[in-house]
Amino acid sequence: MSIFNKKESGSHMSGNDGKQKIWAIGGGKGGVGKSLVTANISICLALMGYKVVTIDLDLGGANLHTCLGVPVPDKTLSDYLTKKVRSLKDLLTPTAIPNLHIISGAQDDVGIANLKHMQKAKILGRLVELDADFVLLDLGAGTTFNTLDFFISADQGILIALPEPTSIENTYRFIKSVYHRKLKMIEELLEIGPIIDRAMNAKISQNSTPADLIRNIIGINPQVGYRLKNEISKLTCKLIINQARTQSDIDIGFSMKIICKKYFGINLDYVGYLDYDATVWQSVKRRKPLLMEFPNSPLVTNFDRMVHRLLNLN
Ligand SMILES: Nc1ncnc2c1ncn2[C@@H]1O[C@H](COP(=O)(O)OP(=O)(O)OP(=O)(O)O)[C@@H](O)[C@H]1O
Ligand SMILES: [Mg+2]
Repeated sequence: MSIFNKKESGSHMSGNDGKQKIWAIGGGKGGVGKSLVTANISICLALMGYKVVTIDLDLGGANLHTCLGVPVPDKTLSDYLTKKVRSLKDLLTPTAIPNLHIISGAQDDVGIANLKHMQKAKILGRLVELDADFVLLDLGAGTTFNTLDFFISADQGILIALPEPTSIENTYRFIKSVYHRKLKMIEELLEIGPIIDRAMNAKISQNSTPADLIRNIIGINPQVGYRLKNEISKLTCKLIINQARTQSDIDIGFSMKIICKKYFGINLDYVGYLDYDATVWQSVKRRKPLLMEFPNSPLVTNFDRMVHRLLNLN
C-alpha cells in the first residue's frame, strides 16, 4: 500500500489500535532536516487516513508551519503556557491536507530549555485530549533536559543524522545524553544510586563503555543488574540518515547501529534514508509541503518506505 492510498478499515496496523501514538523527532545538530522529516512523515500518515497532529516543540525557532505550507499560526504554545488559551485543542490549526493539524511552537524567545517541569508535564499529560491517531513532536536541536524528556516520553524516538562526522558525533552525543537521562530516571525509580556508584568506581578506564557499567552491576547484584539491562533495552531509538548522496552515506546508518549496540547496549533501528534532492529546498523556498508540491520527487519513495517501517508494516 502506498502512502497515497487510504488505510483499510478495520486494519490491523500498529498505530491504529485505538491508542494514540507519540513520535518524537530529534537529533543533536541544527539544520539536519528534523522539521522536514516531521512535516512529511505527518503528511504520509495523514494521506494514509490517520488523524495526525504535529507539534512544533522547537520553541524559539519554530518553523514547522513553513514545511507544511501554513502561515504563522495565530495561536502558539506560548498562549497555552501563559494560560491565554485553556486547552491544547484551541491551538489546532488546519493544514491543506485532510486529517492533518499543526500546533505551532512559540514565536518569541521562550526557549524549550526554559520550560519548567510543570509546563512540560502539562503539555505531555494533555496530549491524550487531542483527537489524533498520531502526535508528532518536532524537537528542535540540542540536548537540554526538556528535549531529552520529550524524546524519552514518546512511543518512538526518531533521530535524524547527516552522513558527516560532525552530525554523526552529535547523534552519538544525543544518544549518550538520552542514555544518561534514562539511567538517572531508573536509578531514582529503583533506588540503586549506590550500586551504580560502586559499579562506576569498580572499573574506571577510558575503554569502559556504558554497556560495561551494566555488566559490572550484574556482577554486584544480578537481580538489579538484569532489571536495569531490561529497562535500558526498552530504549530503542529509530535512525534516519538524511541527505544521502552515495551508497557509503546510506551504509553509515548500519555502522551506527552496530556501534550503538556495542557501546550502549541499545538498539538503534535504522528505518531508512532520504536522498539529497533539490526538491527539498525548492519546496521550502515556495513554502509548500514537499510531498504535495513534488509528488514525483525521489523522496516520495524514501518516505513511503520509511513510514511503512515505522508502522512496522514491512
Ligand atoms: N534531503 C535533503 N535534500 C536537500 N536539502 C535538504 C534535505 N534535507 C534538508 N535539506 C535542507 O536543509 C534545510 C534544513 O532542514 P530543516 O529545517 O528541516 O532542519 P532542522 O533540523 O529542522 O533545523 P533546525 O535545527 O534549525 O530546526 C532545509 O531547508 C533544506 O534546505
Ligand atoms: Mg526545525
